[in-house]
Parts: sequence; structure tokens; C-alpha cells
Amino acid sequence: MRAKDIRERKGDDEPLTMLTAYDAPTAAVLEEAGVEMLLVGDSVGNLRLGYDSTIPVTVDQIASHTAAVARASDEAMVVADMPFLSFGADPDEAVEHAGRMLKEANADAVKIESGPHTVELTRRLTQLGVPVQAHLGLTPQHENETGLFRQGTEESAAKQILDLAHKHERAGAFSLVLEHVPANVARQVTEAISIPTIGIGAGPDCDGQVLTVDEVIGLSESAAPFSEVFGDVRGEMRSAVESYVAAVESGEFPADDHSHYEDDIDDLH
Ligand code: KIV
Ligand code: NA
Repeated sequence: MRAKDIRERKGDDEPLTMLTAYDAPTAAVLEEAGVEMLLVGDSVGNLRLGYDSTIPVTVDQIASHTAAVARASDEAMVVADMPFLSFGADPDEAVEHAGRMLKEANADAVKIESGPHTVELTRRLTQLGVPVQAHLGLTPQHENETGLFRQGTEESAAKQILDLAHKHERAGAFSLVLEHVPANVARQVTEAISIPTIGIGAGPDCDGQVLTVDEVIGLSESAAPFSEVFGDVRGEMRSAVESYVAAVESGEFPADDHSHYEDDIDDLH
């Protein structure tokens, strides 16, 4: 799927489906299951790389995970998340970093945690042919400044989200992630703009939904209150590994089936 296909889904009865993906086998399963957009989120930092936040994630890391996801998917749109400080300082560097995601890692689009400072960048990237997914509301890359609180809870803040949604739409963004904003704010933003909104903790009225795959499959230790756990991969994984450990310790594994013997080889001494 390309940016054009996503735009055309605006207002569809069937919401768009998006999940994060960080590696090839997971991307393959997600695509088989019908997920339409795979986000290589900077959440890879806290969910997969052992960091406490997304702040340390680098362009190289996102490019590497994006390349793995892109190798394993054909149909789904692959969106690479622009990590902290890979944009926002030097515009030329931001273009270079975004360009790497498409040229080197085979992404179809980039996502940028948006604000007043990303309108021009969104315009420039779109003009250059790099589709941009904007991201408003809770923007975790600002956690050192704002904390990880629900965003847009006051009317003035909600108005700012709406204003920035319009500005990024006009700058050419093909869709907009709304993270952890009140459902009635997300509904009004969704009604006001002509590009699809993808909500996370933003209620049922967005044009699509996104969550981290780790929460959905039950791999992460905990899930956000606005999230939903649909499986128990962590439990399955632990029980499989415990069975392996027990089988090795008891001598049950490896059995004859797992071993081969060469009759021609006698005594090596
Ligand atoms: O990095 C991420 O996982 C995200 C989504 C939660 C939208 O940005
Ligand atoms: Na992110």
C-alpha cells in the first residue's frame, strides 16, 4: 500500500489497521493476518532494545529494523518512525535521514512526531516524494519536557492539535496519528481534515487504529490502559523455554531422532 491508497480510505466504513513491527518474522505474521500498515516505531527502543525510553534510538537502528520489516512484507505499507533529533535541527540532515529510510531500508513512508517545527519539513519531504505521516497528541520524544500525560485535555491544547492537524494536512501529510487524546477531540479532528487519522488511545472515531504489536500479542510485561492484550505470547514463550530447559536437564532432549551417528567413524584415539 502506498500513501495514495491510505488517503483514499478516508471516511471508509472499514477502519485502517496498523501495528508496530520490528523484525521480519513478526512482519510476515502481521501481513498474513491482514494488518495494512506496519510501523517501525521508535518504541523498538523500550520494547525490544532494553532502553527506558525512545530517546536513545538512532537512525541506524530504525533503518536496520525497517529493512528487516520491508524484506518480509509485500502488501502492507511500511512506515519508518523518525527517531529523536533525527529531524528538527538541520533541515538538510532531516531530509537525508528520511531519505535513508526509503532508499536504504525500503520504507514506503516516514512518521514524524509533529509540532509547529515540523510543518515546513513535512512540506519539503512531501514535495521531494517522501510520504509523511504526522503524529500529534502525546509525542513520547518530548517526555523529558512534557511528561507522558494525556494530551489535548484543555480546550486551548485541543485547539492547537486541530490547528496543527490542518497545517500538516496542508503541508502534504498523507495521514495523522493521534496519540492519547480525548476521544471527542480525536473525533472532531477526524471530521475536520481530509486525510485519515490513525488513533492510539484516541477513541473509536478515528479512520484507523494503531497499537504496539508487543501489547496486542501479550509479549510486553505490561500494557497501556488504552491498549488491549489479545494473546499471551510471553506466557507461551516462557512455557516453551521452560519445557526446553526441563528436557535438556532430564536428558530427554536431544533424543535419537535429533541425533545422527556415522558408522564409519570408530575410535578417534
Ligand atoms: O513508536 C511507536 O510505537 C509509535 C506508535 C505508538 C504510534 O509511535
Ligand atoms: Na514512535
